[in-house]
Amino acid sequence: MPPSPARAATSSRRPARRVAPGPTPAEAYPPLPQLEDLPDVDGRRVLVRCDFNVPLRRGRIVDDLRIRAATPTLEWLVMRGARVTVCTHLGRPGGRRDGRFDLEPVRERLAELVPGVELMDNLRFHTGEEANDPSFVQRLIRGQDLYVNDAFATAHRAHASVVGPPARLPSAAGRLLSREVEVLSGLRRHPKRPFVTILGGPADPERLAGLRALAAFADVIALGGPIAFAALDPGGAGLIHDWSDLIDGRRLLLPPDVLACRDDDPGQSAVVGSVDPGWRAVDIGHRSSSRFLSLINRAGTVYWDGAMSGDGFIRGTRSVAEAVAQAGAFTVVSGFDTREALDRLRLTPFIDHASTGGAAGLAFLSDGDLPGLAALRRPAAV
Ligand code: 3PG
Repeated sequence: MPPSPARAATSSRRPARRVAPGPTPAEAYPPLPQLEDLPDVDGRRVLVRCDFNVPLRRGRIVDDLRIRAATPTLEWLVMRGARVTVCTHLGRPGGRRDGRFDLEPVRERLAELVPGVELMDNLRFHTGEEANDPSFVQRLIRGQDLYVNDAFATAHRAHASVVGPPARLPSAAGRLLSREVEVLSGLRRHPKRPFVTILGGPADPERLAGLRALAAFADVIALGGPIAFAALDPGGAGLIHDWSDLIDGRRLLLPPDVLACRDDDPGQSAVVGSVDPGWRAVDIGHRSSSRFLSLINRAGTVYWDGAMSGDGFIRGTRSVAEAVAQAGAFTVVSGFDTREALDRLRLTPFIDHASTGGAAGLAFLSDGDLPGLAALRRPAAV
């Protein structure tokens, strides 16, 4: 059966009122302790929690941003004579040693960027990490004098290495963590308007929570990629209902057209407004791209997280990447697939802030605080 003719897909069930973001925990608390607030680090042993959960393909790192982004903190410590041990998780090995999540490729890249720092085993080879087991915290900090958290992308997890050490050692936020909090707090508190959000990626609960948060600040949220395709799919109707409860139809832009392929014959494709059974959306269409582009061109702030295309298609993602890179707005991008597209097009240098935090960024925008930040603000019982 051919797909049905194009029709506007914007949902406008029950208009939601826009909620002005009030003071939030992070903004109400004193600032995070900084590296300069630590006792003299010369000759001291410093445990640094990083998030080196980087994408690997056939054992090779595909995107090393998270490692590069930690170098200012690591260099600051090393140059002042600290003896640095880094810890991180990689993937979700579930508390068991698993060769697929071995940190060797990360160790090699780290040694190239900042020689002379040690890297522990993958934290998630141990059940105590995710369980926030006090005896695992004790094991982590044994022989350490100070603690630094530079793992913004994990600050939403109340895991042992994130919330345990600050209660026991003098602690500080690293440069990357501080910068992420500064930029995302700015988006919450005083974004230059219009504030346009472009959200792609999967239609999962964390992203839905992020959408709920962004609905409070953004002037327009444009959806593309799988999260929008789920809305255009008859099976995604429940999600559309949720979204229209959160944000009124005038501020939510679903793609007016998409490129769809037949499930049983991916070579057969058509540009449609809704996706019939037996077909699947793989990219936003030209009309959608031009609507998104005109929003981006008029924006004061752009936050973009998630590819517009899937299944190996790239055209929609590329058009948004080019528009965001050329925008006069303050631009923030997040998510591996977003950054991968920008890197491939050599457009990353034209973005104001490439965030390392996917789910953590959305959680911060949503809650205004994260367990890892709260732990740093509590003085250690030393
Ligand atoms: C991430 O990549 O979002 C962080 O490293 C957290 O990973 P997790 O979702 O497996 O906890």
